[in-house]
Amino acid sequence: MTHYHLLGRTGLRVSPLALGTMTFGAPDWGSDEDTSRAIFQRYLEWGGNFVDSAVNYAGGASEELLGKFLAETGSRERIVLATKFTGAVDATDPNGWGNGRKNILRSLDTSLRRLGTDYIDLYWLHFWDTYTPVEEIVSTLDTLVRAGKVRAVGFSDVPAWYAAKAHTLAVSRGLEPVNALQMEYSLVERNIEREHVPAMRDMGMGLIPWSPLGGGFLTGKYTRAEDGRLSGDGRFTRFEHFRRQRHGDQKWAILDQLVKVAGEVGCTPAQAALNWVANRPTVTSTIIGASTRKQLDDNLGALDFDVPHDELTELSKPEPHHPYNLYDRSVWPQLPFIPDLDIRSQP
Ligand SMILES: NC(=O)c1ccc[n+]([C@@H]2O[C@H](COP(=O)([O-])OP(=O)(O)OC[C@H]3O[C@@H](n4cnc5c(N)ncnc54)[C@H](OP(=O)(O)O)[C@@H]3O)[C@@H](O)[C@H]2O)c1
Repeated sequence: MTHYHLLGRTGLRVSPLALGTMTFGAPDWGSDEDTSRAIFQRYLEWGGNFVDSAVNYAGGASEELLGKFLAETGSRERIVLATKFTGAVDATDPNGWGNGRKNILRSLDTSLRRLGTDYIDLYWLHFWDTYTPVEEIVSTLDTLVRAGKVRAVGFSDVPAWYAAKAHTLAVSRGLEPVNALQMEYSLVERNIEREHVPAMRDMGMGLIPWSPLGGGFLTGKYTRAEDGRLSGDGRFTRFEHFRRQRHGDQKWAILDQLVKVAGEVGCTPAQAALNWVANRPTVTSTIIGASTRKQLDDNLGALDFDVPHDELTELSKPEPHHPYNLYDRSVWPQLPFIPDLDIRSQP
């Protein structure tokens, strides 16, 4: 693995596969310290340089373990270290979570201490708290970049209008722009193609997908139980939060097609699913998750194959809806007031 991608309109170079550490130290469905260490070391051996965590992952254990592994391997400077604020640092305190200035600063101090470093390469807003004015967020993040505590800024799990507002405001005021969005994206979750992907292309942001395997569904290791739940061994059967999830007919049809394509190519379904995500337009780096070293080995091989994507892309296409159906000629071919001309952007 020798190639890197630039993150949005920054000079930051990141591997096409990022290592997710949500599982590090997570009880029940995650990995213990030894397994997490083996996963981290294997990712470094592969040549990866982009690692993702969050202040709230495994109640702080993810950042603590990561800090330990960075120190043990002496890899801090080589790693593009990403973590997130928003999730609760103190759930009993109304200002102990969210995107207000008070919590961002507290959260950053907590993350820096756990990670054993004095700067974060990519600092993510984890999710929209629905309260904090965007002006407060972009000005706080800008001060952190100017103070050298943060190198670049990204937003995760936000509406596209909110990301566009933050980015536009930052650019117009000469503040640090939003250079990346971290969103759920996989063959079984393509809703961001309606608003977020066009917005990111317009604003020059990079897309960093999470749950590219749909949490493990796209590995093919689950079968359909009679009550609509998943049957098999994995997080969907081991953890109540995930156990509640149901998968409809379309998702099972996509999985069937994925297994077929993977068989034809000679790779695993997980590799074919990751290959599809990593090769979608605007995708800068795909965050892979693994709870064992063996899973990681499998996933790190995902870019070694040419996987035919056309049928998978067609089968998993999101239903067009208003107003996007107006622009989709396959849905609404002949509107007399929109001429059918071939107009192209400058390359
Ligand atoms: N911004 C956000 O809101 C957000 C949300 C979620 C995740 N994330 C980030 O994205 C990362 C990845 O998310 P994710 O863990 O949900 O990704 P995922 O790739 O969709 O799922 C990973 C899980 O699938 C199973 N798996 C992975 N590879 C496998 C293989 N080759 N064969 C069989 N099973 C395999 C494992 O679960 P089992 O233990 O069940 O085997 C593994 O933990 C996280 O670590 C985190 O950094 C961000």
